[in-house]
Amino acid sequence: MFKIGIIEQIDQDGINLLREHPNFNYEIINDVSKENLIKVLPKFDGVTLRVVKLNEDLLKNCKNLKVISRHGVGVDNVDLKYLKNNNINLLITATANAVSVAEHVMYMILTLSKGITSYDRIVRSGEFKTKVNEIVTYELFNKKIIIAGFGRIGKNLIKRCLGFEMEVHVYDPFVSSEIIESFGGKKINDLSSNLKKTDFLSIHMPLNKDTKNLINLKTLKTMKKEAIIVNTARGGIINEHDLNEALNKKYIFAAGLDVFDKEPPDSNNPLLKNEKVLLSPHSATFTKECKSRMSIETVQNLIDFFENKINDNMIYKL
Ligand SMILES: NC(=O)c1ccc[n+]([C@@H]2O[C@H](COP(=O)([O-])OP(=O)(O)OC[C@H]3O[C@@H](n4cnc5c(N)ncnc54)[C@H](O)[C@@H]3O)[C@@H](O)[C@H]2O)c1
Repeated sequence: MFKIGIIEQIDQDGINLLREHPNFNYEIINDVSKENLIKVLPKFDGVTLRVVKLNEDLLKNCKNLKVISRHGVGVDNVDLKYLKNNNINLLITATANAVSVAEHVMYMILTLSKGITSYDRIVRSGEFKTKVNEIVTYELFNKKIIIAGFGRIGKNLIKRCLGFEMEVHVYDPFVSSEIIESFGGKKINDLSSNLKKTDFLSIHMPLNKDTKNLINLKTLKTMKKEAIIVNTARGGIINEHDLNEALNKKYIFAAGLDVFDKEPPDSNNPLLKNEKVLLSPHSATFTKECKSRMSIETVQNLIDFFENKINDNMIYKL
């Protein structure tokens, strides 16, 4: 019998797979304080993981732990070096969430370029006629977008952008022009020179030492004043302080953020007061359909791992 710890509640659809399984028992861990995790984690053979940080301090006590199954694809909340050195496997929900995130990007692009929140506000406040001409809105038709990072989400996003007849440029040093062209995009090799020409930028790469602060005041200053940026990848890829300044100085038009440097952001983070920013609480995968798919995939990955039939694309290569 394998012991599974569900660190933080996940959708019931996934938990049901364990309830009915003869080879597993499970416990849901809702108290994710460090003190409690130190106490309870050592007994588990495998755990599911949402946003809690699992660093060496916590992992070093987990002598039975063979596998961590991420409820998602980002792995920046786990000590990867420790996992590698201690032969602990890491699984990701590789197929569950890309559509939901790509749709969230389209929602942000459309909301910002069509002035949706401003229009809604002026109708409700009785400024229907007086304010309507002050609101600037844009079409997506024939506009250039750079998709920066062309993995699972980037490849889902391009289809939606092409549906709006946008011209899609892709920045991903690790994906060939043949693959990008087969999806209908054009590969760009250099981000900074292309930022000058683009109308939209959507970020879809991991956060690491190469991508931290990739978008900063220097790069933002070169962009069109009509440009719209969307980040659903990880906070920190865009420097928040610089983004706020660029919006206030009108170097760019607007930004949509699902992710932040610190989550939740501090209440005095100036971006929370900036009307040129559309915000969501790291919720791009929180559609009903996606939550169900992610919980099922997270748990199925654990079961497949212990039954030696885990699919290779679900294993994060440490
Ligand atoms: N907001 C959310 O809820 C949410 C949900 C899922 C994923 N994410 C985040 O979205 C991002 C993309 O996820 P994915 O599933 O598409 O990942 P993925 O691993 O499938 O794709 C990432 C792509 O980024 C590329 N890349 C790596 N370094 C790069 C660099 N320096 N410059 C340009 N491209 C680079 C890789 O070649 C790869 O093609 C990740 O940061 C992930 O954590 C966020």
